[in-house]
Amino acid sequence: MTLYANTPKTLTISDIAAMKQAGEKISCLTAYDASFSALLDQAGIDVILVGDSLGMVIQGHHTTLPVTVDDMVYHSRSVAAARKRAFLITDLPFASYATPEQALANAARLMQGGAAQMVKLEGVKIDVIGFLVEQGIPVCGHLGLLPQSVNRIGGYKVQGRDALQAQNMIEDALKIQQAGAGLLILECVPAPLAAEITGRLDIPVIGIGAGINCDGQVLVLYDMLDISVGNRPRFSKNFMAGAVGIADAVHRYHQQVKSAQFPGPEHSY
Ligand code: KIV
Repeated sequence: MTLYANTPKTLTISDIAAMKQAGEKISCLTAYDASFSALLDQAGIDVILVGDSLGMVIQGHHTTLPVTVDDMVYHSRSVAAARKRAFLITDLPFASYATPEQALANAARLMQGGAAQMVKLEGVKIDVIGFLVEQGIPVCGHLGLLPQSVNRIGGYKVQGRDALQAQNMIEDALKIQQAGAGLLILECVPAPLAAEITGRLDIPVIGIGAGINCDGQVLVLYDMLDISVGNRPRFSKNFMAGAVGIADAVHRYHQQVKSAQFPGPEHSY
């Protein structure tokens, strides 16, 4: 018996990768504070994402663009303080990773000040991903709908609907994996395309509005608790309906992801 035998084990990226290999679905939710972090952890959620969606659900902005690195460090530190088991990913916010050097400085802040185990960045930033991985920083890619590019895209729309876009997304996903990313998020992508990408990648793919065949699922916590301001996106589900409380709603989400009951066709494109 070692000195650390009773220390709760925090999941690592190897544990998350092993879930894909074993065909076990990965459950993920966003959190922004210590109380929800502890609640998600106790429900058995595998991955907690400190998403820059906090700009919308915590700060009340219409987009994620105003979120700063300081904001992300603050919320990541709060979440990290209260979770014991879940793997912790924190978003690099808008315009914080334009060059490899800027990305390194900001990712280091998220890991040192925010205790993140992995940083997430949007889009096909192959040079940045490669550089961060080289420096020992685990990276999660993010393709499909990129909320930080909402002004370029012209709204929050499903991505990859036509054949050319779909082919490009498959190639981009392979490049992101090749650059060394350990995980990929696919947001608002037709389910058959997400299934194809998930099947072609060795790294785990976590979907949000990307159908049932991803290796795991993520939702914005406040959407699935039905407390977000504005309309709940079609791909989300109100897990408070029929639940006896918040912990029960999170537990149901975890169970439904693990048993591949969520998302249904009504939450997919
Ligand atoms: O910021 C966030 O919450 C995210 C999820 C939507 C994947 O990036």
